[in-house]
Formats: sequence, structure tokens, C-alpha cells
Amino acid sequence: MATMESLIGLVNKIQRACTVLGDHGGQGMSLWEALPSVAVVGGQSSGKSSVLESIVGRDFLPRGSGIVTRRPLVLQLHKTASGAEYAEFLHAPKRRFTDFAAVRKEISDETDRITGKTKQISNIPIHLSIYSPNVVNLTLIDLPGLTKVAVEGQSDSIVEDIENMVRSYVEKPNSIILAITPANQDIATSDAIKLAREVDPSGERTFGVLTKLDLMDKGTNATEVLEGRAYRLQHPWVGIVNRSQADINKNVDMIVARRKEREYFETSPDYGHLASRMGSEYLAKLLSQHLELVIKQRIPSIIAMINKTIDELNAELDRIGRPIAADGGAQLYMILELCRAFDRVFKEHLD
Ligand code: GDP
Ligand code: NA
Ligand code: MG
Repeated sequence: MATMESLIGLVNKIQRACTVLGDHGGQGMSLWEALPSVAVVGGQSSGKSSVLESIVGRDFLPRGSGIVTRRPLVLQLHKTASGAEYAEFLHAPKRRFTDFAAVRKEISDETDRITGKTKQISNIPIHLSIYSPNVVNLTLIDLPGLTKVAVEGQSDSIVEDIENMVRSYVEKPNSIILAITPANQDIATSDAIKLAREVDPSGERTFGVLTKLDLMDKGTNATEVLEGRAYRLQHPWVGIVNRSQADINKNVDMIVARRKEREYFETSPDYGHLASRMGSEYLAKLLSQHLELVIKQRIPSIIAMINKTIDELNAELDRIGRPIAADGGAQLYMILELCRAFDRVFKEHLD
């Protein structure tokens, strides 16, 4: 039980409990804020969805032009020893998805359930768990892409609304920022780097990811960025080559795409010397290790917040008078029990 790996699983459970409790930021210091997480940030079409799918090794995210991601997607990856891959949603716990096209549809339907068919956004997260032998234990939060202009059917405030939502995630001191920038764009104009620099000026929480290396103009390369000279962060930059739109249209398999990406770096005259530290598989391992480390460092503050939550739940249960029926109170009671269990398990991790 007391292995490092189970820490990410534990935090996943608390994250789900927070959503059930309606705790997802915006109301001062909360348990949700105490939990370390990896937030994916970038401009529209920077390659966020592609990076996530490559990390998972599956094609499962809604795609299209405009704002496709309109609610945070908390993506919890669980490595299994072997066997079939499947997915589960917090909002539909009894249904096990083995068809990833159905996962894509469910994300899209569940988005619409809260936001309607409008192009508005909501800060209520969707929780998706994926169980697979092809993943590392990792939790990533996919957020709406930063934009500069509202499109037809959107309110004028949409640009600001998106930025505020993304900021509410990345400004948490416990947030690890996965800042996605396309290599065929000037780094100085990167929305992700601009926001990351604002909330994390020292770069200690930011992982810079450079996508679309294959789309750079002939005769140019990104070694200045990848070697940390153009924009310095505490963590090394990771370069990525995702599937192109043509690959997606041809349904190029994700696992095949990962292999092609590895070959790209290994045979590249520009990046060959960096090959062992490039690509989506390397990025996934790097993030998984870092997330575990950060959770371990934060255990005392997580325990403190769990106990504060236990006190608050107790007070709330006293106020409504300890119900045992299957109503809202019963749910609070369940979460209270869960918090007590977390408290015990986390304390085991302390030594
Ligand atoms: P998002 O809007 O940030 O989620 O971006 P997507 O992942 O949907 O990517 C937008 C478009 O860029 C898609 O057509 C992708 O196929 C393409 N794309 C993303 N990353 C790369 C890459 O590394 N190389 C190439 N050639 N195309 C990419
Ligand atoms: Na997109
Ligand atoms: Mg996307």
C-alpha cells in the first residue's frame, strides 16, 4: 500500500471527492487547492489534445475547430500490468468504456449537458479515468485553449472567461504547468509561456513543451529553445512531434505515431543529441515522476486540509442532523469516511 505509486491514485480519489462536494476552486483556500495537479495550457491548435492523446496512446478527445474543450477534463491515467484498456467517467460510474470513439462522444455530450449547445464554458470538471498497460500513472487536466477573439455565437467575454478559468488552475502554488507552444510560432508570442511567466516567474512549476517541430521552416531548428537558451525554465524543455492532420485523417494509430516520433528524434541531425529527452513517452515519464515527488513534498499540507475538511463536514452534518437516508447528507457522510481513510493512509506515507 505504502508505495510511491499509490500516492497519485490517492490524490485522484480526493480530487473526485472534491468535485462531488462542489469544491473546484473559486472559493478561497480549499482541499482542491492543496492538491498537486498538472494543468495543460496553450493556445488553440497548439497541439494540446494531440499531446494528451499521445501520452495516453489512444485517440479519444473531441476534435474540431473553435473551442472544443469547454470544461476542464481531469484525466486520470492508471497503469495496469496487462489486459484490455478501458475508461470510466465519474458521472457514469457503472459504465465501462472499451470503445474510445464512445469516450470521445461521452466527453462531448457531458460538456453539452452543462454548457448547453452554446459555445460557453463551465469550470465544473469532467473526470475521466483510463486503465491501460500503455500509460504511466499520471493525472493531467485539459483546459480550454487560450484565444484572442470570440467567434460567432460566443459572448464578448469568452476570451477573458477562458483566460480566467485557465489562470484559476495555474496560479495554484500546487499546480504543475504543462505549457504547450508550437515550434512554428515565435516563442515570444506563446500564450502558454506568457501566462506561465506571469504566475510562475521563476519557472519552477513550468514544463515547456514544444510541438510541431516537423513543421518548422526548412533551414531553421529549435535547438535554442530545447537547450534552454531562448527561454530558461528550471525543468528541461521537451520537444514533440504529434500526428499531422493528414495522419489523423488517415487514422494513423497512436502507438505507431509514438514510434515514428521516436525515430524522428533518433535520426534528426538537429536533435539527435537530445533524443533520449524528447518525445511524448519521455514527457509522460518525466511528469509522472515529478507529480509523485510534489505530492510527497505536500503530504503535510494535504493532511492539514483533509482535517479541515473533516471538521467542516462534521459541522455541516451536525447542522443538518446526521441523516442515514440516501440523500445529500448521506453523501457528505460517505465523503467524511473517505477523508478519514485518506488521513490514515497519508500519515503512513509520512515516514
Ligand atoms: P489543440 O487545439 O491545442 O488541442 O490542438 P490539436 O492537438 O487539436 O492540434 C491542432 C492541429 O495541429 C491538428 O491538425 C494536429 O494534427 C496538428 N498538430 C498538432 N501537433 C502537431 C505536430 O507536432 N506536428 C504536426 N505536423 N501537426 C501537429
Ligand atoms: Na483544436
Ligand atoms: Mg484541443
